Amino acid sequence: MQQKINEIRSRALEEIKRVSDSRALDELRVRLLGKKGELTGILRSMGQVTAEMRPQIGQWVNEARESIESAIAQAQAEISRREMEKRLESEKLDVTLPVEERSTGSLHPMSLVLEQLLDIFTGMGFEAVEGPEVELDHYNFELMNIPKNHPARDAQDTFYVDDNIVLRTHTSPVQARIMTTRKPPIRIVSFGRVYRADEADATHSPVFHQLEGLVIDENISMGDLKGTLDTFARRLYGEGVTTRFRPSFFPFTEPSAEVDLTCAACRGKGCRICKGTGWIEVLGSGMVNPKVLEMCGIDSHKYSGFAFGMGVERLSNLKFNITDMRNLYENDVRFLKQFRG
Ligand code: PHE
Repeated sequence: MQQKINEIRSRALEEIKRVSDSRALDELRVRLLGKKGELTGILRSMGQVTAEMRPQIGQWVNEARESIESAIAQAQAEISRREMEKRLESEKLDVTLPVEERSTGSLHPMSLVLEQLLDIFTGMGFEAVEGPEVELDHYNFELMNIPKNHPARDAQDTFYVDDNIVLRTHTSPVQARIMTTRKPPIRIVSFGRVYRADEADATHSPVFHQLEGLVIDENISMGDLKGTLDTFARRLYGEGVTTRFRPSFFPFTEPSAEVDLTCAACRGKGCRICKGTGWIEVLGSGMVNPKVLEMCGIDSHKYSGFAFGMGVERLSNLKFNITDMRNLYENDVRFLKQFRG
């Protein structure tokens, strides 16, 4: 009996050696150790064996089983290793091959500044509105208290479409459009292109952008204007940047002020960009002229307001250290790619 068991074992170990893939090995395991296997057969026929011999035979069978099981486990490990090697070989990938570059786009510096400006002003409760670039003389000039033959018309170098239609010279006509159609309280900002017949150079372009603000309510004062612009300056350029108001004149505001910001480049110490003054002129502002309020149908005894208008190119040039405004319009990708927020 012992010899028979030994034979079964040696045959099994031979067969296991010849198997080379896991499916075949699985089938072999079932055949050798399963219910229909020869070893199981011997255990089944124990009934015919004397009671003294049973434990001995059981032990032989178990030993054979164990060595077959461990041979199968070893073979399995070997097969897995070879299969893995094969897979690694076939899925090999050369990480040193050059890859095709995928360039992601970037926003134009003007768009980046615009997003930030709108964020700042909507954060303070302003609503962003838009107006037409081809505008009626009526809104661009008349309602802004700039009648025909007013000298301020010359200062604006207007592109006329015809006698009554112009390319807007500033975003202020949006003020008129809002005041004639809404009732106070009003708190809007308006952003967009404006046009003036200027030669293009490092600091001028016949097309540029403005951001206009208008607030109208009861008891609005110059203090509100200053607080709003101080907050704006800090949020755009950081702590320590503040405003300086200088008396000025605009037909649509009274009193009027030009507003300078602390030079963001030198923080007020004086540098080439601010021509040593520590200040940069960025916007015009003032209390809405009561005459404008009345022309637009708002009771100037009950309501007052402030307005401001700023040149956006100036702001983005300061922010990104751009020295020639023409770079913003020439759309050289190598220039534009540098700005990523
Ligand atoms: N519209 C003026 C300009 O283009 C700027 C401005 C706006 C001034 C609002 C005062 C109030 O120069």
